[in-house]
Amino acid sequence: MKNVVPQTIKITKTNESKIGQVDFENLSFGKVFTDYMFVCDYVNGKWQTPEIVPYSPLTLDPSARVFHYGQAVFEGMKAYKDDNGDAFLFRPDENFKRINKSSARLAMPEFPEDYFFNGLNTLLKLEDQWIKPGFGNSLYIRPFAIATQASVSASEADEYKFLIICSPAQSYYSGDVSVLVAEEYSRSANGGIGYAKAAGNYAAQFYPTNLAKQEGYQQIIWTDADTHQYMEEAGTMNVFFRVNDSLLTAPTSDRILDGVTRKSLIALAEKEGITVDVRPVKVSEIVEAAKDGSLKEIFGAGTAAVVSPVKAFGYSGEHYELQKQENSYADHFKKALMDIQYNKAEDPFGWRYKI
Ligand code: COI
Repeated sequence: MKNVVPQTIKITKTNESKIGQVDFENLSFGKVFTDYMFVCDYVNGKWQTPEIVPYSPLTLDPSARVFHYGQAVFEGMKAYKDDNGDAFLFRPDENFKRINKSSARLAMPEFPEDYFFNGLNTLLKLEDQWIKPGFGNSLYIRPFAIATQASVSASEADEYKFLIICSPAQSYYSGDVSVLVAEEYSRSANGGIGYAKAAGNYAAQFYPTNLAKQEGYQQIIWTDADTHQYMEEAGTMNVFFRVNDSLLTAPTSDRILDGVTRKSLIALAEKEGITVDVRPVKVSEIVEAAKDGSLKEIFGAGTAAVVSPVKAFGYSGEHYELQKQENSYADHFKKALMDIQYNKAEDPFGWRYKI
């Protein structure tokens, strides 16, 4: 683990763990939380002594700015356990850098690196029993920061809370997903906050996604706000297209999240000599490829979703089904990634961090 230097974290122990009440075989994503949470307050221009306390509701003033102006950022990470009982994180430094990038964009204070890694390390050691071994089992970790200052004046707050909560997880999607390509709504625009993991980016997706659900699609592939002619990312994932034997994915920009899974898949593919074209992807070329049969696969990549195959997409009133491939890239890269995450394979890139 990076930068773990001795540092005070005030720990309040719980009298009784909730773990016995949890059915680990039947988890729905993000509904069950562990025994503890990490909390650190920002007041008087300074992050205060961090604490780990029993998981419990927060008390906030109704005028806290997060409720009114949405100053809130978050991350998604996972801890994995191997067959020896050792637990690992995957590229946690990327999540650390990204939450501070998101905070900076929302005029929120950056969180210190030693607080983050010490907090995470101490919290995960306390929650060790919640990290279940077995491929597909993980502990989803949600660091987040919110503006807590009591005031409805429309400017950035001067008081914040940084928290880390954890939720045991299995898969995010049950089965392959269908996606609708956006033609009207947009997720983000140039100069906006699309690259930040800001709560508001997700809130803005719910309404158009519900409309897509009414048409039988679970997610939207967002397109560029100006022309709706270029594929960008899906609701909780970056997106890859396999045309013949090459992969295509949109470049990151100020509109697109710089996904950790996305960049890991690009590195894995390149190491195997698979061409990855990182360039603007026209909706029309994907539609053409679906029609002429050269579109072999679409898959999403994200921490929660891992690698999620897309079985069909909708665009402009047409529905395009994708045939399951025998040598699916999605299956192959999902396994290659998870082998590293679960300490079943060599880690040539140095991505794994032992807790
Ligand atoms: C993640 O993959 O961690 C995400 O951000 C998805 C989340 C919105 C469920």
